[in-house]
Amino acid sequence: MDKLNQVLLRDEIRVGAALAAWLAHGGGEGLAKALQAPDAVIGAIEQADLRGMGGAGFATHRKWTPVADAPPGDKYIVCNGNEDEPGTFKDRFLLEHTPHQVIEGALIAAVATRANHVVLYVNPHQPAALAALGQAVQQWQGHPLFAAIGQRVGGAVSLRVVPSSGLYIGGEETAVIASVEGSFPFPRRKPPFPAQQGVHGAPTVVNNTETLAHVPGILRHGAAWYRGLGISGAAGTKLYSLSGDVLRPGLFELPMGTSLQSLVFEHGGGMLQGKEFKAVFTGGPSNTLLTKRDLDVALDFDSVRQRESRLGTGAMIVVSEGTSIVRKVAEYVSFFAQGSCGQCPPCKGGTFQLMRLLNRIDTGRGVRADMEALENLCRIARGSGRCGLIDGAVTVVESSVHQFRAEYEALLTA
Ligand code: NAI
Repeated sequence: MDKLNQVLLRDEIRVGAALAAWLAHGGGEGLAKALQAPDAVIGAIEQADLRGMGGAGFATHRKWTPVADAPPGDKYIVCNGNEDEPGTFKDRFLLEHTPHQVIEGALIAAVATRANHVVLYVNPHQPAALAALGQAVQQWQGHPLFAAIGQRVGGAVSLRVVPSSGLYIGGEETAVIASVEGSFPFPRRKPPFPAQQGVHGAPTVVNNTETLAHVPGILRHGAAWYRGLGISGAAGTKLYSLSGDVLRPGLFELPMGTSLQSLVFEHGGGMLQGKEFKAVFTGGPSNTLLTKRDLDVALDFDSVRQRESRLGTGAMIVVSEGTSIVRKVAEYVSFFAQGSCGQCPPCKGGTFQLMRLLNRIDTGRGVRADMEALENLCRIARGSGRCGLIDGAVTVVESSVHQFRAEYEALLTA
């Protein structure tokens, strides 16, 4: 991608906590426009087709609208910066290097919805991000643009940083709400969605960090400009976290809709020497695996769904021929088992049992009955938790069995 078309990662806006430098490079213009025409903001976000970048790809304006429409009173904007999905390393980069972009996005959301609380929820295992954000917040608090938001909202606006528990499950949006309220991050069932009943029961927008970072640019340059940045019918840009067996792993801001082939073989420099592409764990390893026949897929929410997988956070973990899929899946399911909050017995026991069976098969101690148990467990465990954690574990197991059954069977001893 032409560097000039980069939105989030442009060199000149990687100014850390320096608000004056952010404002000198066009920062603040989006917020100023939002303050001039607050009732037009949600329409612009809708026209831009901004989607939730935390994994679900849900239309952002559909989260903001119910909060804007709710009667006056306490309302919250929460920027979710817990980011702990394996292979995902985009939000921490934004928070550390361009925190004002994220804060401005959250403040624009407050203007659009008349929210009087803005919470920046950050994983304490990312201390550089936490430090940059803390300094950035102090600078906004003394700025006239920030004071102007209070007039729109009808009172003082609180802007604060809340460190998360640092637990994986603490990134699930209802767990985020529990944490912000000061409780242990246990997820709860939805509905009610946060937009209806969030922090202390108030209407709440919980948006991923990257989602909010896109907002100032959309307000500043317009929805048509943002849409035009995407390709293959998709809108805007996307941060792709590329890792695994490629020559140049890293964080890439590319047009939404860039093909998997282009990400891996152009931007990522191709496979490590002597390695051949085998598969990709997408969006954090909780989705259906993409394989060689999917290299042409456009990496946007809708196109990846057509391949019965999900873009998720845009994380792509590339594995090569010679790497055991069973071993990788065992490792990821072990991560989910450790990450389960434990309140739903089918998730707590199910992820542990999946891990045990996968480890038996991977280490050559598995028999056919273990394989049957693995597949049966997947069938009964899906949908059994309050949140999506168990479903993510089941999806990656089922997908790997479906696509690489021969690898599993070759490991069985009887
Ligand atoms: P979801 O599909 O339940 O919801 C998507 C979003 O839309 C939520 O914010 C929900 O509140 C909102 N929503 C849905 N219907 C609504 C309505 N009628 N009114 C208002 N809002 C509504 O997805 P969820 O569980 O929030 O996220 C799943 C994704 O998160 C997966 O793709 C997974 O890969 C990803 N994920 C990301 C992680 C990370 O570190 N970024 C960690 C774990 C999972």
